[in-house]
Amino acid sequence: MTAQDSPAPEGAAPEGAAPDRAPRDDRAAWPRQLRLPGQAAAPDGPVDMRMMYLMHHGFRRDLDAFAAAVRATPVADRRAWRLLTERWDLFATVLHHHHTAEDEHVWPALVSLGAADDVVVLEAMAAEHDEIDPLLESCAAGFRRLADRADEDTRAALAVRVCAARESLRRHLGHEETAAIAIVQRLVDAEQWAAIEEEIGRGGTLREAVRVVPWVGHGLTREVRERVFHDLEAPVRVIWRLTHRRFARREARVFRYA
Ligand SMILES: [Fe+2]
Repeated sequence: MTAQDSPAPEGAAPEGAAPDRAPRDDRAAWPRQLRLPGQAAAPDGPVDMRMMYLMHHGFRRDLDAFAAAVRATPVADRRAWRLLTERWDLFATVLHHHHTAEDEHVWPALVSLGAADDVVVLEAMAAEHDEIDPLLESCAAGFRRLADRADEDTRAALAVRVCAARESLRRHLGHEETAAIAIVQRLVDAEQWAAIEEEIGRGGTLREAVRVVPWVGHGLTREVRERVFHDLEAPVRVIWRLTHRRFARREARVFRYA
C-alpha cells in the first residue's frame, strides 16, 4: 500500500517537525496536513489532524481487506473464519471507540462554537455513525456464523453486508474529512484541539495501546510512518517496535486468501 502527503502549503512546518500549537490566524505556522490513500480531503488550518487521518486510513484499509477475504476464503475453512471473526472484532472495537470519542468529545465542543450551518453538518456526523452501527453488527453476526459452520448463503449475504458497510463508512469518512474537519480548522485552534485529544485519551490502557498501535501503523509507507511516529511519545514508538512484526504475521494469516 502506498501513502503520500499533501503538497506542503506555503510556509508549512518542515518535515518531521512536531505537531505545533499553531495559532488560528498565523497561516505561516499551520502544519502540513497528512494525506493518505483513499482520503477525501485534508482541509488546511491550525490543527494537525494526523491522528484522525491515520485512524480513517486503518478503517478503509480493513474494509477493503475484509471485502476481499469474504469473497475468497473457502467456506469450509473453519480456522480461517475464526481468525476473520476475531479480526473483525478488533476493527469494530477500534471504530466504536473512534466514533464514541467523536460523539462525546469532538462534535459537542464544535456545536458550542459553531453557527447554524455548522450544527447541521455536526448533527449529520452523529446520525451517520448511528446508520453504520447496525451494518457492522450484521457483519459481525455473519462472521460468527461462518466461524461456526460452512454455509454458502451466509457467505453470500456477508459479502453484500461488508460491501454495504464499506460504502457507508467511505461516504461518512469522506463527508467528515471534507465538511466536519473544515469546521474544526475554522473554529478550533491547536491548543483547544490538544485539550480535546487529551480528554479522549484519558483512561486509555497499555493493553489497548498494544492492540491499536500496530493496527494504526500497518500498511503505511515507511516514510509516512517515520514522519508520524517521530513526533509521538517514546512509549508509542517502543510499542510499535515490539508489536508490529507479530501483527503483520497475523494479518498475513487472517487475510491469506484475500
Ligand atoms: Fe473520524
